[in-house]
Amino acid sequence: MEFARFCSSSCWMVVILISGFVFAGFEMVAAVGINYGQIGNNLPSPDEVVPLIKSIGGTKVKLYDADPRVLRAFANTGVEFMIGLGNEYMAKMQDPKQAQAWIKSNVQPYLPDTKITCIFVGNEILTFNDTSLTDNLLPAMQSVHTALVNLGLDKQISVTTTHSLAILETSYPPSAGAFRSDLTSCLTPILNFHAKTGSPFLINAYPYFAYKANPKQVSLDFVLFQPNQGIVDPSSNLHYDNMLFAQIDAVYSALASLGYGKLPVHISETGWPSKGDQDEAGATPENAKKYNGNLIKLIAHNQKKGTPMKPNNDLNIYVFALFNENMKPGPTSERNYGLFNPDGTPAYSLGLSGSDIATNTSSSSSSSSSPTGSTTITNPSSDPPPLPTTSSTGYMSISSAQESYHLFWPASFLLPWALKLFLIFIEL
Ligand SMILES: *[C@@H]1O[C@H](CO)[C@@H](O)[C@H](O)[C@H]1NC(C)=O
Ligand SMILES: *[C@@H]1O[C@H](CO)[C@@H](O)[C@H](O)[C@H]1NC(C)=O
Repeated sequence: MEFARFCSSSCWMVVILISGFVFAGFEMVAAVGINYGQIGNNLPSPDEVVPLIKSIGGTKVKLYDADPRVLRAFANTGVEFMIGLGNEYMAKMQDPKQAQAWIKSNVQPYLPDTKITCIFVGNEILTFNDTSLTDNLLPAMQSVHTALVNLGLDKQISVTTTHSLAILETSYPPSAGAFRSDLTSCLTPILNFHAKTGSPFLINAYPYFAYKANPKQVSLDFVLFQPNQGIVDPSSNLHYDNMLFAQIDAVYSALASLGYGKLPVHISETGWPSKGDQDEAGATPENAKKYNGNLIKLIAHNQKKGTPMKPNNDLNIYVFALFNENMKPGPTSERNYGLFNPDGTPAYSLGLSGSDIATNTSSSSSSSSSPTGSTTITNPSSDPPPLPTTSSTGYMSISSAQESYHLFWPASFLLPWALKLFLIFIEL
C-alpha cells in the first residue's frame, strides 16, 4: 500500500475558480479560488456570474479556456483570472508565432481591465500517456512564455500547466512522495521551466477519488476535514488530520526528490460531488458540504497557513466547481461537483457561519439566474479528535484512487466544446 496512486482529477474545461470567499460581515477574505466550468446548456451568462462571484467574495477564477464573454464580463471587477489553453492546442502552440497570435487575440484585448495573471497550458497531459502530447507540452509552455516576454506581459502573467495527482507513484507517507518514474525525464525540464520563470506547480487533487475507491478503508472524517485522529508520517513525524494536506505534501516531497522542493504547489482543482451513481460511495450533499465547507473555513480562517511540511506557504486552492454542469460525460458525480445549481441557488448549504450566509444569500432568491450564495466560514474544526485511521488503510486510500475516467475525457468532448466556442465567437 505504499504504492500510491493518487487520484486523478477532473474536468477538463469545466471549471472556474473563485478564489477568495469573503465572509460577509467579517473582514476575513480567504484566498479561495473557484473553477468556473461551463459544460452545460443551462448556465447563466457570464454577466450574471459576476455578482455571484462577488457575493462570495471571489477574488480568483480559473477558466478552462479564454472565453471572451467571461473575460469581458469581469473587466474592472478586480477578480484575478487563470485561463487555459486546452490540450488540443499543444501542437500549434509550439510555434512561437502562433502562441503570440493567440495571446494577441485572446489575452491582450482584455488587459488591463480584466486581471489575467496566469495561463495554464494543457490539462493533466502527462497522465494521458500520449507521447506526442507529452512531447509538445514543454515547447508549448515555452512558446507561450516567450510570446509573453515579447509582448512585455511576462511579469504580470505566468505560465504553467495542471497535473493529475496520478503523476505520483508513491504518496504514502507524504515524506516518501515520488513521481512516476517514467515521467521524471519529462517532468524535470518542466520543473526547471517553473523555477526559471517563477510559476507555480499545479495539481488537481481529489481525496474523493480515494474514498470512492476504498470506502471501507478510508476514514471519511479524514477526507472530509472532520475531527479525527489523523495519521503521523513515520519519517517526518508530521501529523496529518486531512488527506488533502497529505496529498499536497507528497507532491512537495516528490518535487524535492528531483531537486525542486522550493517550487510552490497550488491546488488547481479539488472538490466533492453532492450526487453520484449507486456505486459512487460518498457522493452526497452532506459530504460535499463538509468537504467544501470545511475546506473554505480552513482557508478563510487561515488557522493553518500551509501544510505540515510547508507551514509558511500559503494554501492556494481552487475549488471545483462553481456550477453543476449538466453536459459533462461520465458518472453522475461528474455533473454534480458544483457549489451552485445553474439557476444560481446553492446546490447545498455550505454550512458556513450564519451571519455571512444571511448577508449575502438574499440575491440567490432571485428567480432569474443571478447566482448567489454566500459562503461563509466559521471556525475550522480541524482539531483532531478521535477516530481511528490506521495509517496503512488511511493511506491506501489516499493513494489508490484513480479516476481513469477523467483521463479519457477530452476526446469525448473536445468537439462539442470547440463548437460551442465557435458559436460564442459568432455571437460576438
Ligand atoms: C453582498 O452582495 C452584494 C451584491 O453582490 C454586495 O453589494 C455586498 O457588498 C455584499 N455584502 C457583503 C457584506 O459582502
Ligand atoms: C499510464 O502509464 C502508467 C505507467 O505505465 C500506468 O500505470 C497508467 O495506468 C497509464 N494510464 C493510462 C490512462 O493509460
